[in-house]
Amino acid sequence: MPKPLTLVVACSENRVIGRAGRLPWHIPEDLAFFHAVTAGQTVVLGRICYETWPRVSLDGRTPVVITRNRALARPDVRIAGDVPEALAIAQTLSGEIMICGGQRIYEETLPLASRLLLTLVHAEVPGDTYFPEWRHLDWRETERRESHDAHFRYTFLTLER
Ligand SMILES: NC(=O)c1ccc[n+]([C@@H]2O[C@H](COP(=O)([O-])OP(=O)(O)OC[C@H]3O[C@@H](n4cnc5c(N)ncnc54)[C@H](OP(=O)(O)O)[C@@H]3O)[C@@H](O)[C@H]2O)c1
Repeated sequence: MPKPLTLVVACSENRVIGRAGRLPWHIPEDLAFFHAVTAGQTVVLGRICYETWPRVSLDGRTPVVITRNRALARPDVRIAGDVPEALAIAQTLSGEIMICGGQRIYEETLPLASRLLLTLVHAEVPGDTYFPEWRHLDWRETERRESHDAHFRYTFLTLER
């Protein structure tokens, strides 16, 4: 039986996830949540996300990086040429499979995901990378926690199907 896929994402009301290669906000509570839920797991991520997360292998994470550049492989970093190859590798590794973006990877894996750990940031922000529309899919909300900082209100949601 294949392991289920979990997508982990923080997105704004207008589905923005990134701007100029970075997060469009700095929300320490969400970063802490993201690090905690991915610790000890297999994380599947695109090359840009990988380059902006130098400590991805800390806390027992096993990264599977999607890129055409096989030279990025290291003893602790698996390389895959596309999403199907990344998922096949991830299935052989220990821990849960957590999909960490970016845009194309979320687009290709959302139809396959059984769980979505979504931090919904209650703002409309400008950006250049987006999470695909998820609201029309048949989710069961199993957890919800509202929070805020000095700049944003946000909701931690667990959606399952
Ligand atoms: N808010 C959040 O939760 C969240 C989560 C993730 C990312 N982000 C933001 O999103 C932005 C980065 O995402 P991104 O979408 O621009 O980049 P990305 O997915 O991290 O990296 C793009 C690169 O990954 C490879 N790639 C991605 N999808 C592929 C596919 N389906 N098949 C083959 N190769 C693929 C290609 O690498 P090569 O060019 O090396 O071949 C591509 O150039 C940043 O702004 C980041 O902060 C936000």
